[in-house]
Amino acid sequence: MHLFSAMFLLVMLAAMPCEALYPSPEEGWQIYSSAQDADGKCICTVVAPAQNMCNRDPRSRQLRQLMEKVQNITQSMELLDLRTNRDLQYVRNTESLMKTVDVKLKTASDNPRSLNPKSLQELKDKVTQLLPLLPVLEQYKTDARQISRVREEVRNLSLVLMAIQEEMGAYDYEELRHRVLLLETRLHSCMQKLGCGKLTGVSNPITIRASGSRFGSWMTDTMIPSSDNRVWSMDGYFKGRRVLEYRTLNDFMKGQNFVQHLLPHPWAGTGHVVYNGSLYYNKYQSNIIIKYHFRSRSVLVQRSLSGAGYNNTFPYSWGGSSDIDLMADENGLWAVYTTIPNAGNIVISRLEPQSLEVLQTWDTGFPKRSAGESFMICSTLYVTNSHLAGAKIYFAYYTNSSSYEYTDIPFHNQYSHISMMDYNPRERVLYTWNNGHQVLYNVTLFQVVKTAGD
Ligand SMILES: *[C@@H]1O[C@H](CO)[C@@H](O)[C@H](O)[C@H]1NC(C)=O
Ligand SMILES: *[C@@H]1O[C@H](CO)[C@@H](O)[C@H](O)[C@H]1NC(C)=O
Ligand SMILES: *[C@@H]1O[C@H](CO)[C@@H](O)[C@H](O)[C@H]1NC(C)=O
Ligand SMILES: *[C@@H]1O[C@H](CO)[C@@H](O)[C@H](O)[C@H]1NC(C)=O
Ligand SMILES: *[C@@H]1O[C@H](CO)[C@@H](O)[C@H](O)[C@H]1NC(C)=O
Ligand SMILES: *[C@@H]1O[C@H](CO)[C@@H](O)[C@H](O)[C@H]1NC(C)=O
Repeated sequence: MHLFSAMFLLVMLAAMPCEALYPSPEEGWQIYSSAQDADGKCICTVVAPAQNMCNRDPRSRQLRQLMEKVQNITQSMELLDLRTNRDLQYVRNTESLMKTVDVKLKTASDNPRSLNPKSLQELKDKVTQLLPLLPVLEQYKTDARQISRVREEVRNLSLVLMAIQEEMGAYDYEELRHRVLLLETRLHSCMQKLGCGKLTGVSNPITIRASGSRFGSWMTDTMIPSSDNRVWSMDGYFKGRRVLEYRTLNDFMKGQNFVQHLLPHPWAGTGHVVYNGSLYYNKYQSNIIIKYHFRSRSVLVQRSLSGAGYNNTFPYSWGGSSDIDLMADENGLWAVYTTIPNAGNIVISRLEPQSLEVLQTWDTGFPKRSAGESFMICSTLYVTNSHLAGAKIYFAYYTNSSSYEYTDIPFHNQYSHISMMDYNPRERVLYTWNNGHQVLYNVTLFQVVKTAGD
């Protein structure tokens, strides 16, 4: 029992070496580097997949089951251990009794005449005292069966690991076990919440549809959590009022099953965002932000964004009255714009979604007219240096530390004229409108997940 237990723990606690480097992009999960921190805890820098992958990736499901099984086995092992320890004590206590009985029986068989009625009675009493041991021994048998079942389960577990190994390719078994342990941690954090991190890459684009004019905007709800699958499309940047609402992305792709909303006030630019069932947009020829509620088809609130330039005073490089860009990320609603006192440099304001009040503002120092587009991920603003071919994600402003850095993150600008680029934190994709094409990009975020011991 204890030997087995120790073996099992060996499997479970196989130390977590920190030197791993396992790039495996097709897997959806990536570990880039790891190190030990000052306390000796293992810190691994990983790229987590999008949240929905947690549910979709069959390998994740398999691993989740595996982990549940490991947890179950651990529990039954603990139970067994507890019980056998207790029972063992009982068996030890009866040991001396058994010895006495044994000696007496031996003497009796050697010399049958020594077995007088008195000593026979004594022997009977001693055996009676031993009777409670029977169910304990019975229990031992059950436990033994249980142990062989658990042993089989562990063997099965190894088989599943092996199968996963085959599926994933050439990793040795030790590494694989290590990966399973790391995956457990990451799966856990993945399922609990959307991990936040730093943008490190943008996938190849997927063109969803070609519809509408050269400039426009399209989106899904950015609220987390939300089960809303609707897609909204707003064609053009100038004085538009017509919003098309499709039931699903599939309907949007086919141009079917849509309803129309006619906004009470026209829009300017393409910086609209849908957040929690409402459209937030910039009212034409003003710096007013309007919150339009789709279900009630009514304006819930409108408010001037104090000092914000409008009417093509401070647009992005492509023009189009893109003065005020509204967006949402994991941490809420934001406005990206500039003012005359800020000398045309990009300003970020966090907005209160109910009242549209400005909660806090940051001056990024980056000239808005030199920016192609910008989008927010995890409270960091990323700015592209052009709307044309060759554009890169060039600048990042961290609101958490009020600092910036220049970046060099390429992306494929397939149709060479991007007039809208926004991140959807729920789906972890970038929505873009590129020369009359509606295009999506996946993003890769770096995040730090602590593994062992915390
Ligand atoms: C773990 O144990 C629970 C409760 O006994 C059971 O419902 C579940 O199916 C078990 N999971 C696995 C993967 O064996
Ligand atoms: C181990 O796997 C075999 C084959 O898949 C299965 O029949 C058996 O029930 C499994 N045993 C346990 C304890 O899960
Ligand atoms: C700010 O956010 C970035 C990106 O998410 C992260 O890398 C950085 O560590 C954060 N800085 C602080 C001071 O929290
Ligand atoms: C989302 O909208 C609902 C009403 O439609 C409101 O009750 C809820 O508080 C809103 N949530 C957030 C985070 O704004
Ligand atoms: C907006 O710009 C146009 C063209 O430059 C101009 O005709 C119009 O008067 C401006 N409107 C406002 C409200 O500034
Ligand atoms: C993003 O990644 C998911 C999971 O790998 C994939 O299903 C989806 O098609 C990708 N989308 C884009 C735009 O690349």
